Amino acid sequence: MVTATERKVNLSFEAKNKAQDGFVASTASRVLFSGAFGAGKTIALLTKALRLSQEYPKNFGYICRKVRATIELSTLKTFFDLVCPRELIAHYNKDKFFVTLINGSQLLFGGLDDPLKLGSLGAGGIGFAAIDEAIETNEDDWRMLEGRLRLPGVPHQIFAATNPGPPSHYLYVMFFKNELGEVYQASSFDNPALPDDYLERLNEFEGVYKDRYVLGLWKGLEGLVYSSFNDDVCLIPRFEIDKSWPVYTAHDFGSVNPAALFYAGNPGTGDFYAFAEYLPGIEMGHHDHVESFKTICEGRTVLKRVGGNHQETGERAAYTSEGWPITEPKHSLDKALQ
Ligand SMILES: Nc1ncnc2c1ncn2[C@@H]1O[C@H](COP(=O)(O)OP(=O)(O)OP(=O)(O)O)[C@@H](O)[C@H]1O
Ligand SMILES: [Mg+2]
Repeated sequence: MVTATERKVNLSFEAKNKAQDGFVASTASRVLFSGAFGAGKTIALLTKALRLSQEYPKNFGYICRKVRATIELSTLKTFFDLVCPRELIAHYNKDKFFVTLINGSQLLFGGLDDPLKLGSLGAGGIGFAAIDEAIETNEDDWRMLEGRLRLPGVPHQIFAATNPGPPSHYLYVMFFKNELGEVYQASSFDNPALPDDYLERLNEFEGVYKDRYVLGLWKGLEGLVYSSFNDDVCLIPRFEIDKSWPVYTAHDFGSVNPAALFYAGNPGTGDFYAFAEYLPGIEMGHHDHVESFKTICEGRTVLKRVGGNHQETGERAAYTSEGWPITEPKHSLDKALQ
């Protein structure tokens, strides 16, 4: 990363689209920038944070992602490389990701995966909370941050930047269904700073990927293959699956894009939970796949493994000989899925 002393940033922020402009200027207590890849979300988020820090000396803001380990090379790097001019910074503690500006305002970068750190966000509380990649967070994270917005003498704002997700996500419910804050939206095509070849590449996205990541729309995955999949019913918060529950695995073969799903059945209720998916995305042999399957199922009892279509007896045999016996499915859609 560029260090505090090497950086040179020209602060004159000019919004690249109306969404950036509106989001940065908004004084609403809850604000969301929902947008596609490269729409300018992170720059807007950080510019808003820096403005609040400059306009209100001795402000204290927490800028975070879900996982602390991801913030240094993403949001924090953008802050130093593209948003905050060196001359505004009085001190930077690089172990704590803690920036003190010359006007006394402080910006702490971190994650929502560190309750101890969040608990010590200062007895006086914080003036603002900014969440990047907020689709990774859950409602508990959001509420916990809201509970710390009490620094005296400054406006209290929580604002977030995110790619869209399924309409069942708490952010969609909070901002679009219940209208509990202001929303600004932009697509990738709303950022003229993006290179042409990048936009051409995005133009090749299809289906839900295009809807969410290029057009910036909140679309679910329902209807892609199985129309009975319903985000509202089928997506639930993660929880620890009891080790005693029996596991069933389903396999899709192929040398380049094999896939597997792992389900656990709750013997008490008869409900099944898909708790892991396997999509290595690289070419690997049967032995290595099986090692990965065993790791995923470590400590659990796998009752049945099913996969392939009726013709793929050879593949099943290959996995079986590596210690992962896969049986033929009763029904299979041998015609390729569209
Ligand atoms: N107001 C601006 N002025 C100058 N350049 C900008 C501005 N906004 C965005 N950019 C440029 O566009 C790029 C993408 O912006 P940014 O990283 O904020 O997008 P994003 O929506 O957060 O992208 P991602 O989906 O990858 O998280 C930046 O690296 C920067 O070069
Ligand atoms: Mg971003």
